[in-house]
Amino acid sequence: MFEEGIALKKKYGERNVFDLSLGNPIVEPPEQFREALRDWANNPRPGMHRYMPNAGYPETRAAVAAHLSAKTSLPFTANEIVMTCGAAGALNTALKAISEPGDEIIIFAPYFSEYIYYADNHQATTRAVPTDSKFIPDLKALEESVTRKTKAVLVNSPNNPTGVVYNHKTLQGIGKILAKKEKQYGTEIFLVSDDVYRKLVYDGAECPYLFQYHPQTIVTTSHSKDLALPGERIGYIAVNPQYEGRGELINGMVFCNRVLGFVNAPALMQHIVQNLQDSSVDIGQYARKRDFLYNNLTEMGYSIVKPQGAFYMFPKAPIADDVALVGELQKHNVLVVPGRGFGAPGYFRISYCVDDWVIEGSLKGFKAVAKELRLR
Ligand SMILES: Cc1ncc(COP(=O)(O)O)c(C=O)c1O
Repeated sequence: MFEEGIALKKKYGERNVFDLSLGNPIVEPPEQFREALRDWANNPRPGMHRYMPNAGYPETRAAVAAHLSAKTSLPFTANEIVMTCGAAGALNTALKAISEPGDEIIIFAPYFSEYIYYADNHQATTRAVPTDSKFIPDLKALEESVTRKTKAVLVNSPNNPTGVVYNHKTLQGIGKILAKKEKQYGTEIFLVSDDVYRKLVYDGAECPYLFQYHPQTIVTTSHSKDLALPGERIGYIAVNPQYEGRGELINGMVFCNRVLGFVNAPALMQHIVQNLQDSSVDIGQYARKRDFLYNNLTEMGYSIVKPQGAFYMFPKAPIADDVALVGELQKHNVLVVPGRGFGAPGYFRISYCVDDWVIEGSLKGFKAVAKELRLR
C-alpha cells in the first residue's frame, strides 16, 4: 500500500490522493516532550548517552512502575519493568523469553498481522481464534483452541484494526479459561497484552488493565501512539507483580532484549519519557476525526462497528471480495487496506490518524463506490 500510495501521488499530485492506509500518526508530540528534549540538549548530564543496565535506567523504570501502580493499585517496582525499542521490540523480547520451538500463540482475528512474523521469529506459531460480529473474542472458540502447546494468548485492546475495546466481562472470561486450561494440562499460559493504544480511548470507554485477570500477565507497550513518537522506538514491558515466577522471567527478557540486538532502549528517549508517563497527545482530535468519518460513511450506507479507541475503523466490505473493494476505492484515489491482511476477509481497514483534508477528500470516492454498489 505504501508503494502504491507513492506511485499514485506521483501521478495525480500529493493533494489528490487520500491515503487512509497507514498507522503513522500525524499529530505532534505534546509540548512537555519538546521541553524535556530541550532540557536534555541544553543541560547535558555526564554519561547520559552511555550504556546502562540492559533493562533500562532504574529511574525511568521506577517512573513507569509508579504510573502503573497508580493506575492498577498493584505494587509495581522498577524490577517489573524492562524498557524496550517500541512495542515491537517489547513483543519480540517477551515472545523470545517465553517461547519454545513449536509453541502456539493464540491471537484474535482480526489481528495486527505482524504478530504472525513475531511468533515465527522465535519458532512459535500463531493460532487465530475468531471474534463475533462486534469483534469481541469468541470465548467458546478460545476454550476449544487452547492446547498443551499454547504458550500465550495475545490480546490487543484498543484493537488494531477494529478500534474495539474489550470490556471487563470479556477479559474475565479469557482469564477463567486460561486458569482452567493450565489446571487441565499442567502448563503455564501467559496472557500478553499489547497496550499500544491504551491511552487512545473515546467517550469515556473503560479499558481495564489485564493484570487483574491472570497472574502470568505481561503487558507490552510503547509511546509510539500516546506520545506520537513511533520513530523514536521507545516502549516497555511490565510483568505482573503478582506473578511468582517474575524474577526468572524478567531476567530472561533482559537477556533477550540484549541478544536480539536491541541491547537497550534508546538512552535519550528513556530520559525524556521518565517524566511523561501521565502525558498523552490530544486525543480529542482523534475522537473528532472518528466521529466525522463514521457519521459520513454510515450515512452513505457502509456498515461499521463504531470504534471506541485507537485510530482505525474496520467497515464491512459491501462486496464479498475485500481486495476488489479496495481496488474500486483506489480508482477514486482512496487508499485503504483489505481485511484479509488482518485475517478478516470481507472487511477493510481505514486509518484516520491523518490530516482532515485527507478524510474530507476521501468522502467523494467513498460516496461514488457506495453509489455504484447501491448501498442506499
Ligand atoms: C497493534 C500494534 N502493536 C504493535 C505495534 C508496534 O508499535 P511500535 O511502533 O511501538 O513498535 C503497532 C504499530 O502500529 C500496532 O498497531
